[in-house]
Amino acid sequence: MNIFEIDGPCKLSGTVEISGAKNAALPIMAAAVLGNGKTLLESVPDIADIRTMFELLDSIGVKCKRLENGKVEVDASSIDNPVGDYDIVRKMRASFCIIGPLLARCGQARVSLPGGCSSFGHRPVDIHLKGLRALGAEISIENGYVTARVPEGGLVGTEIFLGGTNGPTVLGTANVLMAASMAKGTTVLEYAACEPEIQDMAIFMKKMGAKISGIGTQTLTVEGVDELKPVEHRIIPDRIEAGTFMVGAVMTQSQITISNCCPEHLRAPIDCLRQMGTRICVDKDSMEVSHTGKIRPAHLTTQPYPGFPTDLQAQFMAMLCLASGNSFITEKIFPERFSHVAELNRLSAEINKVGSSVVISGRETLLGAPVMASDLRASAALVLAGLAAEGKTIVNRVYHIDRGYEDIVSKLQALGAAIERKHIDD
Ligand code: EPU
Repeated sequence: MNIFEIDGPCKLSGTVEISGAKNAALPIMAAAVLGNGKTLLESVPDIADIRTMFELLDSIGVKCKRLENGKVEVDASSIDNPVGDYDIVRKMRASFCIIGPLLARCGQARVSLPGGCSSFGHRPVDIHLKGLRALGAEISIENGYVTARVPEGGLVGTEIFLGGTNGPTVLGTANVLMAASMAKGTTVLEYAACEPEIQDMAIFMKKMGAKISGIGTQTLTVEGVDELKPVEHRIIPDRIEAGTFMVGAVMTQSQITISNCCPEHLRAPIDCLRQMGTRICVDKDSMEVSHTGKIRPAHLTTQPYPGFPTDLQAQFMAMLCLASGNSFITEKIFPERFSHVAELNRLSAEINKVGSSVVISGRETLLGAPVMASDLRASAALVLAGLAAEGKTIVNRVYHIDRGYEDIVSKLQALGAAIERKHIDD
């Protein structure tokens, strides 16, 4: 088992380069299945979730190859097994977004339900299925698998409302958009997700020949086409990785430069940090972040884009543990996404959870301790807290962080952090 050992408090300095966005690369690799031939993607992060997507695509007959410098070739010249196997889908929920493109390309798909093992509560796929059914797909659920078939006459465009009780669905929008791209006629997706990662996927699909308008808004209109062609595309920078390093600079009272990022995708977190007293100089594709002195407390509510992202909630919570006063966070996307609270409290934080909100009583220092990572962003929060805490922090179960952060240890080491990955016997 791998652990991270951190000797805090650390000071950071220098430049960190942000990798391509995991949550754009995953649905874009799925969308590459729509094109008969070889797609070339640039800036695909080398992380566990992308390797799982390789495994999934390989299992359906699509050949993926990692080339030099973050390039990946996806060869979808033939698909011989339109099935998303349980053993792959259970590892990564994003695998479920293969059902839309398989349906469009092969006329049928059988994909395992993702299951309910998430550490942040129930994550249904009802809206994905509602959207596919609205296009005419015949859907049945048996033995834990969703079987979807295109009816005689094909999928037909229509108006589909994609909102759920907690707002739009990101991967649901991706799935239905991919299926609608080759349906007959016009599909209008209302209350669609407009996250930058969905925008990037829609831009990628437009290059392939899809007719999509409204990109970046909550209404996407798609005119179905008969076929899509393989293309080349560069994945956008990972806004959540950039936000994680911004928090790292603040928590360690440091100044760092973040390169290869897209500050316009981070408006809400940047606004929040500035109110907390952080200095941020924004350029087109880089930011200089520095913080000295007190961290002002904050009130945060996670929301769909362009609101404050749920994927930065845990990291901001770690930071607010060191604020000079009481802070409040309300989680509106995944009301149970709080597995990091108990672990941050092990580092001497004072966080109290009330329903889907927490109250954080800021304190001057955190104290190192052994902690357990429980999901990707929760583990990032524990690493950040470990950098700021006094003494040794051991982060266990770091396979969670390896799912989504490329080279996190070497990137932090290059900034001067005393962090090491160690292998210990289970
Ligand atoms: N929802 C439904 N029904 C559905 C789908 C979603 O009720 O059919 C609900 C969810 O339970 C949740 C809300 O809608 O309350 C939003 O979930 P969404 O479907 O948008 O989440 P997702 O598409 O499964 C993606 C990201 C997550 C990120 C969320 C929200 C990827 C691969 N995953 O998940 O990223 O938190 O959007 O922005 O894009 C992460 O990177 O750590 C991560 C978890």
